[in-house]
Amino acid sequence: PRDLRQLAEQTGVKIGSAVDIAALRAESDYRRVLNRQFNHVTAENAMKWESVEPQRGVFTWDDADTLVENARRNRQQVRGHTLVWHNQLPAWLTAGVEDGSIGATELRQILRDHITTQVRRYKGKIRAWDVVNEVVEEDGTMRQSIWLKHLGSGYIADAFRWAHRADPRAKLFINDYNLEWNAPKIETTLSLVKELQAQGVPIHGVGFQGHLGIQYDYPGDWANVMRRFADLGLEVAITELDVRMELPVTPEKLATQATYYSRAMTDCLSVRACRELTVWGFTDRHSWVPGWFDGEGAACLLDENLAPKPAYQALLTVKNPR
Ligand code: G3I
Repeated sequence: PRDLRQLAEQTGVKIGSAVDIAALRAESDYRRVLNRQFNHVTAENAMKWESVEPQRGVFTWDDADTLVENARRNRQQVRGHTLVWHNQLPAWLTAGVEDGSIGATELRQILRDHITTQVRRYKGKIRAWDVVNEVVEEDGTMRQSIWLKHLGSGYIADAFRWAHRADPRAKLFINDYNLEWNAPKIETTLSLVKELQAQGVPIHGVGFQGHLGIQYDYPGDWANVMRRFADLGLEVAITELDVRMELPVTPEKLATQATYYSRAMTDCLSVRACRELTVWGFTDRHSWVPGWFDGEGAACLLDENLAPKPAYQALLTVKNPR
């Protein structure tokens, strides 16, 4: 394949990227590469609750609309990210819950309205929704978010049902990080999926975020983990792949990074149910990594100048067993 779009066509694995909407608007080179290389997109922040409803009842869809419209024009499918999360909630919501002015009954109604409003707005335009994001802790317990604390464990089933009602054709996902290798998290998530399925809840896929770093071993069992979810009938996606490193960049580190990217693609290709590989930003010019991990960075396929790194070339030369 000559580029990522062609790789996607030849393998049947959609290749996506998270999108920084400000960059999409302001930088024509960023826009050109995104639209040429990728056939799937996820909003990095623009569809999160604090972005779309910063004040109660005041909706700001501009950025999300821009992404969806750009995707339509460039024949890209869209992953909606994310409906239920404990982060990036609007301040009015967290404050209201904290000071007791929003009680449990009202909170449930607010969540239902949020999901219904957002999913309906993009009905038919979102291939897959991350319905619940990061609901399991590293030790395998359920995350004590405001949702669990105030609504009880039924909020997850409710969220999927509400989303399904609002857009019956969208694929509904559970999404998490470290799910590539963390045994307690894997087991709890598998049990959760089985429980939901037993209750007839519409859940269609599992997303592995895939935030990796070359200072850690590659999660060598990942394909097997994918298969365990696929065996439950779920679609599998890699939803937020990036591979960070301690700076400075060296040719050796870039070579190691390339093997992590290509192994992730190889793992996805080895599991029939894996249909999407999305990177969490395609250029080191716009990446969440330096802001979150002191002294780390260079996690993406292209450098700050949009020049392809070894990881980009490595993806194009992965052997296709399909
Ligand atoms: O919008 C404000 C801006 O007004 C302000 O001037 C600036 C100052 O710091 O902050 C801006 O908000 C930042 C926002 O990204 C938009 O750039 C927040 O501080 C920053 O915390 C936020 O970080 C995002 C992070 O999620 C928040 O949890 C990252 O961009 C985004 O890449 C990251 O994405 C998450 C996925 O959603 C879920 N999985 C993990 C992944 C990485 O953390």
